[in-house]
Amino acid sequence: MRFLLFFSFQFSILISAQLNNNQKVVSESLFINWDNTFEEPKNTVLELVCPKIDTVKIAVIGLGNRGAMALDRLPQIPNVKIVAIADVDSNKVNNCLETYFDDKGYSIPFPYYKTDDWKLICQRNDIDLIYICTHWQLHTPIAVYAMEHDKHVAVEVPAALTIEECWRLVNTAEKTRKHCIQLENCMYDFFELTALNMVQQNLFGEIVHVEGAYIHDLRSLNFHDTYYWNHWRLKQLQVNDGNTYPTHGLGPIAHVLNIHRGDKFNYLVSMSSDQFGMNKYAKEHLPDSSKYYDVDFKKGDINTTLIKTQKGKTILLQHDVTSPRPYSRLYTLSGTNGFIQKYPKHSIALEPNAHSSLSSNEIDSMLLNYQPSVLKEIKDKAKQVGGHGGMDYIMDYRLIYCLRNGLPLDQDVYDAAEWSSIVELSRKSVESGSAPVQIPDFTRGNWNKVKKVSYFIK
Ligand SMILES: NC(=O)c1ccc[n+]([C@@H]2O[C@H](COP(=O)([O-])OP(=O)(O)OC[C@H]3O[C@@H](n4cnc5c(N)ncnc54)[C@H](O)[C@@H]3O)[C@@H](O)[C@H]2O)c1
Repeated sequence: MRFLLFFSFQFSILISAQLNNNQKVVSESLFINWDNTFEEPKNTVLELVCPKIDTVKIAVIGLGNRGAMALDRLPQIPNVKIVAIADVDSNKVNNCLETYFDDKGYSIPFPYYKTDDWKLICQRNDIDLIYICTHWQLHTPIAVYAMEHDKHVAVEVPAALTIEECWRLVNTAEKTRKHCIQLENCMYDFFELTALNMVQQNLFGEIVHVEGAYIHDLRSLNFHDTYYWNHWRLKQLQVNDGNTYPTHGLGPIAHVLNIHRGDKFNYLVSMSSDQFGMNKYAKEHLPDSSKYYDVDFKKGDINTTLIKTQKGKTILLQHDVTSPRPYSRLYTLSGTNGFIQKYPKHSIALEPNAHSSLSSNEIDSMLLNYQPSVLKEIKDKAKQVGGHGGMDYIMDYRLIYCLRNGLPLDQDVYDAAEWSSIVELSRKSVESGSAPVQIPDFTRGNWNKVKKVSYFIK
């Protein structure tokens, strides 16, 4: 509460200062600041090491699109046991039992059906990891409760919706010394893993600017009557502007920039177009459906956010789930010696001939040469199991591998907080005429302790 009062007071003062000054100067005094002393500093969980777990016993909560896919993948990883599954829709629970467990030779998980059963699951003492695949509003409450009951947490994206929730995740992970990571699968796509390896081999020199995005026309799914439980995703677009889903675009490029491993996000500015596409879509496709007709969506169709880092790097981040256009996460890296881009077309350009891209044959062989060893070992299995072309399997595989070997996980709770914080911070900037907004240092000053991102192997 102290935090909220502090924020709302400071926010209103600074915004009025900015409007009075006609937005002439972007000086530090005009920043919207956040009170980083929300709780007393705790021990850091950077590169947290926890005891090895021989067989990782998992509960999956939320068995919609993502949760059901996870139940297809996870049991295929050796030394994984699914102990419990839960959803408020009993058909989904029973279908999952039938589809992924009957006649498969795996032990049968205990089913849960009630709204608050996730609490009973977290209270069990035969579970190591709570794997959360519900709608966004339950991510932080379940994650915090799970850590408080001595469980590691892997939570779908975004892990949190507000700055207060981000701090709750960090504070609880530091207090309990449990792992708490997002299930940010886009880190593990073949291109992103290989490009990160290229960056770490210094192929592009100093990375100066990066771009990421979630550009995915979700109109038909968002307006679908049953695809998302209780229309949770559409409802977000009704009430919030800004970047409501930042982590797929931001996660991979944040690791390229070693965020909180030698650099940190300092501040952002964010701007949204007005809302044009969603009402149009509702009117054209759902003419008889009064519940969507003339709904006043707050979400502007296209949001663009710019982030500046402590070390002077820039990040462009976009979000658009409304426009009729091809899927893209941009994934563009620009360095002092070269450039790499994933969307809309693979491109690599290197000094001294960086005016044009390498040919597609040259790019393909380069991507093959720079594949990290972990990818070489599991790519066939990943492609066979699938899940967004294999990246979902690689994500789960790495999570289980690190837990089994007592290694730090590839992502940590600070990643979860930093990437998720953009939801609220971008909204605040949009609401205040694109004013610069400071991004909290969730490591509380420890952002330079670790010098680069590492994905550990034994
Ligand atoms: N990483 C990715 O590529 C990716 C892709 C799509 C969605 N997601 C994320 O995955 C999450 C789930 O998305 P989805 O598409 O599966 O949505 P969904 O609506 O299909 O699934 C959510 C499920 O949660 C269940 N649920 C609601 N309240 C519950 C409760 N109290 N206890 C247990 N279950 C409850 C619902 O019945 C539903 O089955 C979201 O956070 C979304 O952002 C990630």
